[in-house]
Amino acid sequence: MNIDGKAYRTIWLDEADRLHVIDQHVLPHRFETATITSFSALCDAIRNMLVRGAGLIGATAGYGMWLAACEAPAKDTEAFDTFMSDAATALKRTRPTASNLAWAVDRQLAAMTRGSSPEEKRHIAKVTAQAIADEDAEACKRIGEHGKTLLEALAAKKANGAPVNILTHCNAGWLAFVDYGSALSPVYAAHNAGLPVHVWVDETRPRNQGASLTAWELSRHGVPHALIADNAGGHLMQHGQVDIVIVGADRVTRRGDAANKIGTYLKALAAHDNGVPFYVALPSSTFDFSLDDGVAEIPIEERGAAEVRIMSGKTPDGSVLDVQICPDETPARNWAFDVTPNRLITGLISERGVCQATQEGIDSLYPESAGTARHDS
Ligand code: MRU
Repeated sequence: MNIDGKAYRTIWLDEADRLHVIDQHVLPHRFETATITSFSALCDAIRNMLVRGAGLIGATAGYGMWLAACEAPAKDTEAFDTFMSDAATALKRTRPTASNLAWAVDRQLAAMTRGSSPEEKRHIAKVTAQAIADEDAEACKRIGEHGKTLLEALAAKKANGAPVNILTHCNAGWLAFVDYGSALSPVYAAHNAGLPVHVWVDETRPRNQGASLTAWELSRHGVPHALIADNAGGHLMQHGQVDIVIVGADRVTRRGDAANKIGTYLKALAAHDNGVPFYVALPSSTFDFSLDDGVAEIPIEERGAAEVRIMSGKTPDGSVLDVQICPDETPARNWAFDVTPNRLITGLISERGVCQATQEGIDSLYPESAGTARHDS
């Protein structure tokens, strides 16, 4: 995506093999990039959400395995493999919910078995990391094209060229991936094609990825949007102000249950009650075909209480400040994700097309996945 006329991805290697990312801590008030120079710094970057979003976490993990390979013993293949196995375990622990992380790590481990020396394996890890990033961008671009057809169908039903109103939760835009995004990719594709669209942006407490990241992305791209309080969606749906909900996903099971940012489930309930179509957009790397019942089986990350108790924002003088919003003695709990059962999901949008959120629907796009158990959660 373009920032001030310059094309950016969220993660990239420069000519000198230095790894760069967009710093998601300082948006929307500043646009900065950061350089990640070691495997442990990369684990910290995922854990503390310098980079975040399922696809970007996966791509970062791919590069993380390459950084680990650069730090691994270079002379002894057995010692190299042990080092990489430990690195894989450490990386998988950084954030537990997004499927893409374990998917990328396992893909790297499998790819490196093709090398017979540490040097070969290190080269394979670099090539694989770049392939993971490129494929993520390509998959998201295709999600945009498939999702655009849904928006076109809704636009055709609107009178006098009125915009299609899309509600989204959290940030599943290009900042959450390598480029394009999942839930926002259809919005960008429709907007670029001249379709009138308008996005209701849930603020997405506690970390406010909607307010700080989605709103920033849409502003930069010139897409009409309005920020709304997290609890406003049901009211808007009752009054015909939402034509479609499109959200991203962090993990989707074989039968189509979808883990996404906390609060997504409540939006799905409201959409169901009001007959508003509710779509989940995801690349293939977000499926976890080893799980079935998402509520029972998807591990939900619980993060620190400070994210709920303290909010960050810009003061009138332009500085950015953290403020506490509750009494000193009040404890807080902070579940980062919830699971929307497939019965509340109208359909899934992946790079392979649109399907029902059922095992049969998913099998129709992913026949090769029937009966596969992919990785440990
Ligand atoms: O905690 P985050 O910011 O990494 O959460 C991920 C998300 O932004 C959302 O859950 C998103 O909708 C899915 S990630 C594409």
